[in-house]
Amino acid sequence: MQHIDLSTNIAGIKLDSYLMNASGPRCTSLQELEVIGKSASAAIVTKSCTIAFREGNPEPRYSDLPLGSIQSMGLPNLGYKAYLEMVPQLKSLGKPVLVSISGFSLEENIEMVSAFQNSDIDIIEVNFSCPNIPGKAQVAYDFEQVETALSKLTVLGDKPLGIKLAPYFDMSHFIAMAEILKKFPVKFITCVNSIGNTLIIDPETESPMIKPKGGFGGLCGDYIKPIGLANVRAFRELLPESIQIIGVGGIKNGIDAFEYLLAGADAVQIATCFEKEGANCFSRIENELKAFMDKKGYNKLSDAKGKLKPL
Ligand code: DHB
Repeated sequence: MQHIDLSTNIAGIKLDSYLMNASGPRCTSLQELEVIGKSASAAIVTKSCTIAFREGNPEPRYSDLPLGSIQSMGLPNLGYKAYLEMVPQLKSLGKPVLVSISGFSLEENIEMVSAFQNSDIDIIEVNFSCPNIPGKAQVAYDFEQVETALSKLTVLGDKPLGIKLAPYFDMSHFIAMAEILKKFPVKFITCVNSIGNTLIIDPETESPMIKPKGGFGGLCGDYIKPIGLANVRAFRELLPESIQIIGVGGIKNGIDAFEYLLAGADAVQIATCFEKEGANCFSRIENELKAFMDKKGYNKLSDAKGKLKPL
């Protein structure tokens, strides 16, 4: 096999590979983040943090499904100050650290983004798309709120800031969101988050699979790959090159990762597969992607990035 170079960058921050963990499973405690640091993940991505420690939603709040998972974790996390304090330890593992922030108001997001702008963190991802907090709408579906928030959050410092988007399902929404993003120095978007407020019913027990919100939760895994691919593709066609795209949604093998590359992803994140398989998934998928690219005669990401062939 020829040498395949999977290195990439987000906002100039060098990544040794195209694959990293997603904010989501197995990235809440220092111990979990250290496991990611020692794996083949190109970066260490934290669980979305809030101002204060949260236990999260009542259990059961996660269920494996044949083709993915449904979850309504409710943002269990240590509180942002714990992640701020961890930054030096995480940085010592030798790869970029990306913090995910998920405040319940613009004021809370300003407080947290400001704090991380004044830290040694490499990249800041603001999560506008958590579907699982009872009574809280997903910011990503409120375009005016996104615009107001970006006007305040993009002026707090020089570290690259991006946003995690919910999936969109209508061309008018892709266009409206792209127009907003273009007004601000947003460095990247991460798409997609889980599809919020789905319901899986167990016909034997006649109950939902998970407890929070009457069983409504975020759908993840294979079920959402076509939606993730469409969101990456649509935004890649609508946004300038200065806004990069991290793809997420149903990546569990090298070919899934390659499909996101064709759609235009600069890097990808892995959640459900990491939850189910553990940190070995990063090297496995990396090797599978390299083998598939080798078969195609590609030896670097730019050979295929965004090059979906029209029919
Ligand atoms: C949670 C789920 C999400 O999809 C998200 O973006 C943030 C948090 C959660 O339930 O913890």
